[in-house]
Amino acid sequence: MSSIRSIFRPVRWLCAALFAIIVPAGAANAATTLENMQAAFNGESNAHLRYLAFAHRAEADGYGEVATLFRAAARAEQVHAANHAAVIKEMGAVPVSRIETLTVKSTRENLEEAIKGESYERDTMYPDFLRQARADRNERAIVSLNYARTAEIEHAKLYTAALHNLDSLKGTSHAMFYVCPTCGFTVRETNFEKCPSCFTAKESFETIS
Ligand SMILES: [Fe+2]
Ligand SMILES: [Fe+2]
Repeated sequence: MSSIRSIFRPVRWLCAALFAIIVPAGAANAATTLENMQAAFNGESNAHLRYLAFAHRAEADGYGEVATLFRAAARAEQVHAANHAAVIKEMGAVPVSRIETLTVKSTRENLEEAIKGESYERDTMYPDFLRQARADRNERAIVSLNYARTAEIEHAKLYTAALHNLDSLKGTSHAMFYVCPTCGFTVRETNFEKCPSCFTAKESFETIS
């Protein structure tokens, strides 16, 4: 009996080695597009609530313009969450979000956290999810993910500018921001005829003040 086992042992090792070569670490756990859309829906749902809370704090800290920016970004994240939810439903699933406990710090710290979150989505999360969606040829997911990533690029720029100018923004009253209801693209000025990201007419943009 033990001699049979000793014959099969090298075969088992060979199989394990071959499996390790053919299936690289992590590949067996690669998330599907549906799982990615759920993660994106969850992230956007939480970002929406987080930015509303940050807007409240910015208001209390006397940064009216920063409060408007947080509200505009919150609306954009809501658009992204709705777009992702529609894709999830089209894939036959139910959108699920787990609302996290919020930590609201000073407006400066909140801006730093927002920049960190937007940069992660811009540089890591959405590019990874887009790669998978393209591999799956899921056109609706690609559109929704691209809309979100393009808007997050603008959010990161707007938050970074606000952080750099924070001292001069103390005591400011509300500013005007405009949000595309289709893709969440967020701007200070609608100096274009159609949304640069999704081509929605600028007349449809929502005014956040
Ligand atoms: Fe964003
Ligand atoms: Fe748009």
